[in-house]
Amino acid sequence: MQELLELISERVANAFEAAGYDRKLGRVTVSNRPDLCEYQCNGAMAGAKTYHKAPFMIADEIADRLSGDEIFASVESVKPGFLNIRVSGDFLADYANQMAADQERLGLEKERNPRSIIIDYGGPNVAKPLHVGHLRSAIIGEAVKRITRFAGNQVLGDIHLGDWGLQMGLIITELRERKPDLVYFDADYQGAYPEEAPFTISELEEIYPCASGKSKEDEGYHAAAMQATNELQQGRRGYQALLEHILRVSVSDLKKNYEKLSVSFDLWMGESDAQPYIPAMVEKMKRDGFAYLSEGALVVDVAEESDTKEMPPCMILKSDGSALYNTTDLATLVMREERCQPDEIIYVVDKRQELHFTQCFRVARKTKIVPPETGLVFLGFGTMNGRDGKPFKTRDGGVMRLENLLADVNAKMLEKILEGGHMQKEEAGRTAEIVGLAALKYGDLSNQASKDYVFDLDRFTSAEGNTGPYILYTIVRIKSILKRYEEENSLEGLRLLPPASPSEKDLMQLAARFGDNFRTAYEELAPHKLCAYIYELSNAFNRFYHETKILSEEDEEKKASWIALLSLTKRILEKSIDLLGFAAPERM
Ligand code: ARG
Repeated sequence: MQELLELISERVANAFEAAGYDRKLGRVTVSNRPDLCEYQCNGAMAGAKTYHKAPFMIADEIADRLSGDEIFASVESVKPGFLNIRVSGDFLADYANQMAADQERLGLEKERNPRSIIIDYGGPNVAKPLHVGHLRSAIIGEAVKRITRFAGNQVLGDIHLGDWGLQMGLIITELRERKPDLVYFDADYQGAYPEEAPFTISELEEIYPCASGKSKEDEGYHAAAMQATNELQQGRRGYQALLEHILRVSVSDLKKNYEKLSVSFDLWMGESDAQPYIPAMVEKMKRDGFAYLSEGALVVDVAEESDTKEMPPCMILKSDGSALYNTTDLATLVMREERCQPDEIIYVVDKRQELHFTQCFRVARKTKIVPPETGLVFLGFGTMNGRDGKPFKTRDGGVMRLENLLADVNAKMLEKILEGGHMQKEEAGRTAEIVGLAALKYGDLSNQASKDYVFDLDRFTSAEGNTGPYILYTIVRIKSILKRYEEENSLEGLRLLPPASPSEKDLMQLAARFGDNFRTAYEELAPHKLCAYIYELSNAFNRFYHETKILSEEDEEKKASWIALLSLTKRILEKSIDLLGFAAPERM
């Protein structure tokens, strides 16, 4: 279906065109004065100069032409030249009925030019516990993945594990100190290595910080870790086998954690998968004259004339010949290009890494790793802060592990649910997990991604205000009305009638704008806009609900129409929260 705003704009544009004006002037927006009208068009103001006419004369003309159009209840020309528009109830009900009839997509059109898109998100580092720094990437990336996919694109989410570099050498070194007799350290060993890892995930998580601490204090230890990293990168068999173990143990733990967040990846590739592509990539950069030596390091210039800030050259290899974060990301691009030639790659990463990505993107374009038409998008997000405005920490100032954060949110939610007193412990526990996740995700996603925000447990878990639980309450409330209606009636084949009250019209109007709002969230990669929309929709529902005695209505046709409106509202809300990456419980 054509989106509502587009449809209305088209009618108004036709009128402008028929009157001899540029049809672009017919663009209609949602009114910012809902007390005066529902939609507005300022085209007459904009066109006055070009056509040497007073704006109100143009507006009068257009209002006149539109007066017979059955989709409008009224089109008024008001001085100095605005067009105030209201749509007709018949048109609105008809539009909403068409949406409701589309079981799968609620009338949402699929992308006319679908693209293949890779979303690079998550980015956890192997052998280190997931902490809140990785939370935003997971939450935002998952929403962006679902939204772009629902729009009709072919989308792959790639976790891009941090599984390369010094951290691996550190783990190997520490393991060697603890268990020097392990076969992995015997350089002469030729046989197969054991299937079972020589450590558990908890040991692994303890080994890394221990090794990292030692390496900061002890130069010899640091050198040993560097050496181990180097040998691993040169392909030493025993170390490769250890890397596999570390990866396997880590990945299965990560999967469990991401599952709790309802986050999943299509590809579990890592930095290490890109390593084989480095030598040829570097050779080509040199051969093509892009890479040159500067103070021993291999670099590529990326500064452009229009730069207002300093843009240092991008380092490809350090003076000792070793690869860096840049190298890995560029080689990953080579790999992605070779394997799936994506039309676009979206990186959902902390905005403090923006310079890194600007440099990488420029090198990738300059050296033709990616064709010019491939989109490279950096979706940088801000920091999640504590109530003190500083990066979120545990109460004793440590790094907050994701599991603990989730546990805190769920505990708070459980406490609130039990306070309500109408749910048994077991159901309350399950419900707290569902609602807790919504609280956490909505708390994050309702903020513009690029901005920092404050993690406020009390606010996020509140059932009032712009929160996840409020949205879920709204859905649950609708579900319970529908269920009661269904005890005596069927929910099949109900039709909406033209709205009879302002609050009903508001709700229908907002429901009808699902397509417009989805499109904006999709095109701007802005899940927060979808949040803002469902908040508005929930508010409109709750206003209607408080004004209307739905189930006790005696006019059956009217009641059925309201039920149809509720059912449509519920479906929109449920679809939207699914796109945002969470779900609603049956009861709350
Ligand atoms: N592992 C990195 C980190 O923890 C994030 C990776 C982001 N993605 C990328 N392609 N560089 O900071």
